[in-house]
Amino acid sequence: MAGRIPQSFINDLLARVDIVEVVGSRITLKKAGKDHQALCPFHNEKTPSFTVSQDKQFYHCFGCGANGTPLTFLMEHDGMDFVEAVEWLAKLVGVEVPRERGSRPAPDRTDLYDVLEATDRFFRGALKNSAAAVSYLKDRGLTGLVARDFGIGYAPDEWHALQQALSETMPRAGEKDLLEAGVLTRSDAGRVYDRFRGRITFPIRDTRGRIIGFGGRVLGKEQGPKYLNSPETPVFHKGREVYGLFEARKANRSLERLVLVEGYMDVVALAQAGITNAVATLGTSPTADHFQKLYRYAPEVICCFDGDAAGRQAAWRALEQGLSELRDGRQLKFMFLPEGEDPDSIVRKEGEQGFLGRLAAAQPAIEYMFSRLSADLDLNSLDDQARLATLLLPQIEKVPEGILKQLMHNRLHTLTGFQPQSGGRRPASSASRPSKPTRLPPLTRRLVASTLQRPQLVLDLAEDVRDALGAGSGVLEDLVGYIVANPECDTAELVGRWMGHELESQLRQLAQRASGLSDDAQRAEFQDGAVRYLAQRETADRRALLADLKEQPTADNLRKYWDRRQGRGSGE
Ligand code: UTP
Ligand code: MN
Repeated sequence: MAGRIPQSFINDLLARVDIVEVVGSRITLKKAGKDHQALCPFHNEKTPSFTVSQDKQFYHCFGCGANGTPLTFLMEHDGMDFVEAVEWLAKLVGVEVPRERGSRPAPDRTDLYDVLEATDRFFRGALKNSAAAVSYLKDRGLTGLVARDFGIGYAPDEWHALQQALSETMPRAGEKDLLEAGVLTRSDAGRVYDRFRGRITFPIRDTRGRIIGFGGRVLGKEQGPKYLNSPETPVFHKGREVYGLFEARKANRSLERLVLVEGYMDVVALAQAGITNAVATLGTSPTADHFQKLYRYAPEVICCFDGDAAGRQAAWRALEQGLSELRDGRQLKFMFLPEGEDPDSIVRKEGEQGFLGRLAAAQPAIEYMFSRLSADLDLNSLDDQARLATLLLPQIEKVPEGILKQLMHNRLHTLTGFQPQSGGRRPASSASRPSKPTRLPPLTRRLVASTLQRPQLVLDLAEDVRDALGAGSGVLEDLVGYIVANPECDTAELVGRWMGHELESQLRQLAQRASGLSDDAQRAEFQDGAVRYLAQRETADRRALLADLKEQPTADNLRKYWDRRQGRGSGE
C-alpha cells in the first residue's frame, strides 16, 4: 500500500496553486472587485452568489454555504477523492507526490478499509458454508463465476458471527472500529451486534476497487426490509456511490456507455448475461452527483425504468438531476421496461440480444422531456404554446451552455414560436401568470400546501368541486388542473413546473410545511377549504364584475354580471 502523503507537502501544494485557476478550469468566473464571481456550481441559481477569493485562496457560496479550498473544490465538484485531488493539483504545478515510508502508522481511514476487507473475506467464506444461501443464488440463476466476480457472500443468521470472526482475524480492530465501518450496529438499548444477519451480501467498491460498504438481501421472503445497506460512514456516501462501477470498468477496456438500473441483482444478472456495463444507485433515485460520476467514465448513460407510473416519476426525477450534467458530447437516454419487469427478469427472458435490442431503442431523455411536457397540449393554440415554453425553459436552463442547449432552444422555437433572449436567459415572467411576487392569501396557501404535499387529495375531491377548482388561472387552479391531467405526478414534479417563477420559493416552502394533521384530518380540512375557496372566488369574481359594471356600464359588462348571478348564485 502506498505510504501516506506528508501534511507538509499538502500545505506547500496549497500554497503553490491558485484557486482561481483551479475553479476557473471548471466554471466561468467573472472578476468582481478583488474577488471573482460565478453562478454556484453546487446549487441552482440565477444570480451569482458564488465567490472566489484570490487573497484568501478560498471559495464561498452565500446561497448554499458551500465553501473550501482548491482541494475541497475538486472533491466536491469533480467527485475526486482526497488522494486524487492532491495528485491532480500536483500535476497542475508539476511536482511528484511524495509518500512517507513505514515510519508512521497508517491513517485511520486505512483501518476502515481493512475492516471492510476482512468483513468481505468472512462473508465470502460463509457463503461456501451455507447450503441455503448457495441454493437461493442458484434458484435465482446465478453462476458461481459471476458470484465470484462480484464478491457475493453471505452473512450468517447469528448476532455475533462476524464480530467473533474478526476478533480472531483482526485482533487489533476494536468494537469502535467495526461500528465506524458500519458492519456492526448498536440497538437503542446499547446492545452491539452484527448489522447484516441471514442476508446475501453484495460488497460495494469505490472506483479504485476498495470495499466501502455492503448491501444485504434477505433470503426469500423473511420479514424486515428486503435490502439493507451500510450506513453512511467516513468512506461510504450513499448519495454519491454507484454499485458495479468498479466491476464495469474492470470488465471493459473502455466504456462507451453505462446502463443505470435500480438493483444489485439487476447489475449482477446483466453481467452474467454478458452486459457488463450496468451500474445501480443504492436504493436512492439518481442525483446530479451520480450522473457527474458516471459521465467521468462514459459519455453515454442509459437509465432503465419500470414502465408504470412510478417509473415515469423516477424518469422525470432523473431527468431533472441529469440535465445539469449534459455538457456537449454527453448523452442521456431512457428505457422503459414492460410493467412488472426489471432488468433481471427481462434479461433472463429475452437474453443478451433481447436486452441489447431494448438498449439500442432507448429514447434520448431530451426527446422524452419534450414529448412528456407537450403531451396534453394543443400546440396550435397560443395559450398552450406559452404554457409549453413556460414548462420547458427552466429545464433547458439547467443544461450547460453549448450546442445541445442551443438545439433545445431551437426546438422550443419551432414548437412554440417563442424566441428566448440571447444568452439563453428566460423572460422575466411568462405572459399567462401573475407577475408580482405577491404573497398568496392564507386560505390559498393552506390549500396549495396540501395540494403540493399530497396531490392525491385533489383526486379525492368530489368531481364537481374538483372541476370547479381546476377552472381558472390562479396557482391553485393550475396545480389542480395539472394533477387531474397527470394523476401520477408527485410533489417534486409539481414544484418543478414553477421553477424560475416568482412564486417558486413560496411554493417550495409550502411543499415542505408540516401540516401537523393526521392524514384524515388533512383530507377533511382540504375538502372543507376547497368549498370555501370556491365560494370566496365566486364572491370576488362577482365583485370584480360589479366594479367593472360601475366603471363601464356597457351592455356587455351588464350581461357578464347578470350571467354570473344567474349561473352560480348559491354562494350568497
Ligand atoms: P427492488 O425491490 O426493486 O429489488 O429494489 P430488486 O433489485 O429487484 O431485488 P430482487 O430482484 O427482489 O432481489 C431495488 C433496489 O432498491 C434498494 C436496493 O438497492 C435494491 O437493489 N432497496 C430495495 C433497498 O435499499 N431496501 C429495500 O428494502 C428494498
Ligand atoms: Mn428484481
